Amino acid sequence: MHPLLNIGIRAARAAGDLILRNVDRIQDLPVASKGRNDFVTEIDRQAEQAIIDVIRRAYPNHGILAEESGAHGGGDHLWIVDPLDGTTNFLHGFPQFAVSIGHSVKGRLEHGVIWDPLRQELFTASQGAGARLEDRRTRRIRVSRQPSLDGALLGTGFPFREQQKLDRFLQILRAVMPTTAGVRRAGAASLDLAYVACGRLDGFWELGLRPWDMAAGVLLIREAGGLVSDVDGDDGFMESGNILAGNPDLHEALLGLLKELPGG
Ligand code: IPD
Ligand code: CA
Ligand code: CA
Repeated sequence: MHPLLNIGIRAARAAGDLILRNVDRIQDLPVASKGRNDFVTEIDRQAEQAIIDVIRRAYPNHGILAEESGAHGGGDHLWIVDPLDGTTNFLHGFPQFAVSIGHSVKGRLEHGVIWDPLRQELFTASQGAGARLEDRRTRRIRVSRQPSLDGALLGTGFPFREQQKLDRFLQILRAVMPTTAGVRRAGAASLDLAYVACGRLDGFWELGLRPWDMAAGVLLIREAGGLVSDVDGDDGFMESGNILAGNPDLHEALLGLLKELPGG
């Protein structure tokens, strides 16, 4: 295993341990609001610090972009950190949240780790070396073979913060609903992307994500044989936050569907 991936895993597990130690005291946690429907707890912050400590100890000169504390340092190497993806779920005891850590060199994603501490599922990928899922055993993962929207299971996220994105979102939802087997909104984008990578979901879209929601999951999907783009089909999703992902057939089918929509 690549040493950088190893550090990413160590950091994610450290954060996951901290999160797990606190699931039973959710009621006692002070919650701050970063904006409309955007919450943060001391657990998000402590988990982030645990990750930063592990990375800093191993690679003191690497840059880090972390959700709660922002940018630390610079250089070619950048760690992109979401210490607790799915905070709203966590706060409600809804068992779907994860730690997500991506690593890039000069803007190119090289390693990704998504750790689901409740299910003890570890999703990892390294550029050119494939994607893996480790629970009781370790295996290579691939995107699904679902050939068309007919019968497909899709994931998404609701634009609950930016209301102006809601119209566009509902337009897409209305278009995909009648043609698919179902649409899931589980509440942790990193896990949605990991589930596309291992074939539990055939495709995924969301508007308004941030780099730390996507970095690790994007590499996982690519290394698992899937495609990721902006909802318009171009490459700017890390900037726009509007992401469309799936196995190659589903990605193409979804893009086609979105292009037919007014404004698409
Ligand atoms: C959120 C989750 C959610 C997605 C939001 C994200 P957070 O992350 O990934 O599924 O719909 O857009 O912000 O705030 O819980 O880290
Ligand atoms: Ca997140
Ligand atoms: Ca978060």
